[in-house]
Amino acid sequence: MDAFEAILTRRSIRKYTSDPVSDETVTELLKAAMSAPTAGNEPWHFVVIRDRATLNAVTTVHPHADMLKQAQVAISVCGDPTVEILKGRWILDCAAATENILIAANALGLGACWVGIYPEENRMRKLRELVRIPDHVVPLCMVSLGWPNRKKAPSARFREERIHVERW
Ligand SMILES: Cc1cc2nc3c(=O)[nH]c(=O)nc-3n(C[C@H](O)[C@H](O)[C@H](O)COP(=O)(O)O)c2cc1C
Repeated sequence: MDAFEAILTRRSIRKYTSDPVSDETVTELLKAAMSAPTAGNEPWHFVVIRDRATLNAVTTVHPHADMLKQAQVAISVCGDPTVEILKGRWILDCAAATENILIAANALGLGACWVGIYPEENRMRKLRELVRIPDHVVPLCMVSLGWPNRKKAPSARFREERIHVERW
């Protein structure tokens, strides 16, 4: 699958088979994550979570995270604002890294879904406790991952009226 196809066919996949996702595959995803553009100093950190109890525990504070109960692995994308050159850019850098994981996962045939953590205080607190994220680091999100047990059609969100040429 080429990059363009991987982007256009990416969807949030929340149902997975019980087939394992190897460490090598996770490393490929993390290489994609760390290839994202950065406004400076690569503020990202990634927590790879396979522990079933930990993944399930996130769902006790998150009403839209049940896919973690089936996920083989999740990657929490976190940002360290203390290394920022320009204030507030950690979120942008970490979001770009997250999107790279989602596209790379699709390219590898994996199912993946962005699980929002920041800026919900209770979700951030719970994830911090569960995987011992230091106080100065902020968990932006998790990406749940597994081999998909369903397919989704590409999204149809292209809207010509959202495009403004030269002037709004
Ligand atoms: C910032 C952000 C947070 C999201 N958080 C969640 C979430 O907590 N749970 C969930 O099921 N999906 C979450 N999503 C995925 C969206 O629901 C999904 O991208 C959207 O419905 C469009 O569907 P698609 O990804 O299949 O194109 C999140 C997406 C973004 C960008």
